[in-house]
Amino acid sequence: MKNYLSIKDIDSLPKLVEEARELKKNPKKNNDLGANKTIGLLFFNNSLRTRLSTQKAATNLGMEVMVMNFGNEGWALEYEDGTIMNKGTSEHIKEAAQVVSQYCDIIGIRAFAGLTDKEQDEAELVLNGFKKHASVPIVNMESSTGHPLQGLADAITIEENKGKKRPKVVLSWAPHPKALPHAVANSFVEMMKLQDAEFVITHPIGYELNPQITQGAKIEYNQEKALQNADFVSVKNWSNYSDYGKILSTEAKWMMTKEKLGNAKFMHCLPVRRNVVVNDAVLDSDQSIVIEQANNRTYAAQIVLKKILESL
Ligand code: CP
Repeated sequence: MKNYLSIKDIDSLPKLVEEARELKKNPKKNNDLGANKTIGLLFFNNSLRTRLSTQKAATNLGMEVMVMNFGNEGWALEYEDGTIMNKGTSEHIKEAAQVVSQYCDIIGIRAFAGLTDKEQDEAELVLNGFKKHASVPIVNMESSTGHPLQGLADAITIEENKGKKRPKVVLSWAPHPKALPHAVANSFVEMMKLQDAEFVITHPIGYELNPQITQGAKIEYNQEKALQNADFVSVKNWSNYSDYGKILSTEAKWMMTKEKLGNAKFMHCLPVRRNVVVNDAVLDSDQSIVIEQANNRTYAAQIVLKKILESL
């Protein structure tokens, strides 16, 4: 694996999930693979899970880790070619990416969508800027349009918990007071397309994700109908895609409850707002597998870093 920018960088999901589960049994087995190698984790946005799990994964492989809160502590970056930089930006991505490449053998980037300019978000300025100008592999730690490490952790979690070969998996929209990006939902959908599962997306009318991503996936606007006989329910809010970044509805009736969940396992990428997105009774029940999901972030990151290190 040369880079891990999106779910599309996965050759075979079943194989990668199997290898991640194998590695989970003995996380330090390959702790010489990353000897004398350094990963730089650049955060343009906040994080708990991604930061700690990727750091742990790299450490398990014997790597040195450097973490920088670039959004608060780095120079404001310029991404356009030929700009006269006499305004707010201090350093061009061309130099920044090449400089970080002098210190690091792999670079992880977290840079969320701004949710004001769809074209700009879809251009993935930060991720693609580093991809273009860095001389080392890039790992997406959640960009404007995708969160492939989360998607891979979700796939590992489903594989570990499924009771049948082809489970029914539902991605259900939930209300949220803030406008949230589409990245997690996008990667979940892309990952489900590679998974042997009956997959259904449910959300209020108007909350369609990018149709290029959901193409071929079943969308059911009636949440109750979508949830019937579900084995896994992954809940996530996202803001409007067509009226980009807007909140058109905070419909509380879409919150996940124990009654709606039935016998399914509950999934969420976290962080989650209790009693807005999902009620306490679900999160505090045995049906919630969110902590296992968060734990699997380490093994998702570790298998990706292992594959990249093996390709260096
Ligand atoms: N799920 C996830 O990416 O969590 P963090 O934003 O805390 O890293």
